[in-house]
Amino acid sequence: MPKVTILPHPELCPEGREFDNVKTGKNICELLLENDIEIEHACERSCACTTCHVIIRQGFDSLDEADDIEEDLLDQAWGLEATSRLSCQACVADEDLVVEIPKYTINHAREHH
Ligand code: FES
Repeated sequence: MPKVTILPHPELCPEGREFDNVKTGKNICELLLENDIEIEHACERSCACTTCHVIIRQGFDSLDEADDIEEDLLDQAWGLEATSRLSCQACVADEDLVVEIPKYTINHAREHH
């Protein structure tokens, strides 16, 4: 079963984390929240915001493709990259993943920048 590595994020998980033997099909946002990594999820995981944005640094191609709604939302995300996903719409597949939580969400960016 795949391993999911979360890269350090200054506020949400300063040391980074590793989760071994994650179940295939596990939702990435859910995995983070269950493990006290309080990623924002403003729309309660209904694919209607961008606050749960993550960048998949390894294993991106193993994930199911994003649908059009997710792609449109991602266009508005802070710090969008080619391997960006909305974590509430992305589920662990059969490969190890390395996940980066961007430093800001669009909410932060509006408030502070
Ligand atoms: S929590 Fe809003 S799109 Fe993921």
